[in-house]
Amino acid sequence: MESVGVGLIGTGYMGKCHALAWNCVNPVFGDCPQVKLVHLADITEAQARDKARELGFADSTADWRAVIENPQVDVVSVTTPNSFHPEMAIAALKAGKHVWCEKPMAPDIKDAERMRDAARGSGRVAILGYNYIQNPIIRHMGSLLDGGEIGEVFHIRLEMDEDFMADPDALFYWKSEASAGYGAIDDFAVHPLSLVHKLLGPVSSVMADMAMPYPDRPLADGGRRKVETYDIASALIRLENGASGTLCVSRTAWGRKGRVAIQIFGSRGSIIFDQERMNELRLYRNDGPSANQGFATILASPDHSPYERFLPAPGHGLGFNDMKTIECRQLLAAMQDENAHVIDFEEGLIIERTVHAMAQSYHARGWVDV
Ligand SMILES: NC(=O)c1ccc[n+]([C@@H]2O[C@H](COP(=O)([O-])OP(=O)(O)OC[C@H]3O[C@@H](n4cnc5c(N)ncnc54)[C@H](O)[C@@H]3O)[C@@H](O)[C@H]2O)c1
Repeated sequence: MESVGVGLIGTGYMGKCHALAWNCVNPVFGDCPQVKLVHLADITEAQARDKARELGFADSTADWRAVIENPQVDVVSVTTPNSFHPEMAIAALKAGKHVWCEKPMAPDIKDAERMRDAARGSGRVAILGYNYIQNPIIRHMGSLLDGGEIGEVFHIRLEMDEDFMADPDALFYWKSEASAGYGAIDDFAVHPLSLVHKLLGPVSSVMADMAMPYPDRPLADGGRRKVETYDIASALIRLENGASGTLCVSRTAWGRKGRVAIQIFGSRGSIIFDQERMNELRLYRNDGPSANQGFATILASPDHSPYERFLPAPGHGLGFNDMKTIECRQLLAAMQDENAHVIDFEEGLIIERTVHAMAQSYHARGWVDV
């Protein structure tokens, strides 16, 4: 594959992150097919045209199907709100394109299954935007676990918290509509679950609670609209490997700006990480004199590949968009039949089933197997 033609649907927050990744992947890695930014879509011609100019795409449209039907496009980034993912991803796969779709797969599990089936039958690569698994320090955490540094893992604690919906006067928008899904569990919980899935394996059962702190929110026209999603959730979880754990998520946690926290406790030590300090992990090992024991802080460095592709200097730090660039490189590897560290639609469906089991558990008020 000498070159790859890129299509982009949706140019909001994640659309820009995907566009930056497509722009950066070759300069950072230097070993990719030549990336051609071919065609992007948003909901109006004017917005699409402006964004194409800003983000470096050759052509723009207000009709997302034109992107999928463009013969110059090989791979499509789908960065629209959740409810659009099934229709767009399936159409792209049917048109013979590879797909990079933002998480979650779909608000309805049946649609997520249809996406998985479409990917299976297509012979194309279809991955999800689980960027946190790409952090080099998280990959290092995986090596430490695989190497038995903290012994057998018995217990994990997972959290994802932000405060962008903490203000009761924050305007109603698509994330408060039932068409977006359940709320914090499919918006947030899927991220820490993606980390656990890669680091320790699948979740086998859940018992969850969900909460709606604000029953309605203001509209831009001065009215109010009933909130249809749950901004808070807590769950007990069991992993297939037998470990127990907790998972707590909130979009209304004042002061938390980008917390994706994971604590893993083993028989000989523990490892902790928080995305708000994404260039470090803390490792505790039960060895040496107890008077000298304590958490060691390991800073991200060129020893944690592919950090060295961005920077030769340790401790200088990568950022959120760098995770997307690594994800993009992994997608290109998968498209070239190389080993790739990604969550594809097969593995993504396991994560979707976990959040749907959480919702089911909340309504049934008891444990549910995934
Ligand atoms: N991986 C992550 O860390 C992460 C972070 C934030 C959001 N997301 C996911 O990314 C997706 C998008 O979220 P966002 O925050 O970027 O939303 P956003 O509202 O900022 O952007 C969505 C864009 O899609 C466009 N759009 C809507 N309908 C369209 C259509 N029919 N055709 C073309 N364009 C259309 C909108 O105009 C907007 O530009 C969601 O699924 C969300 O869960 C992932």
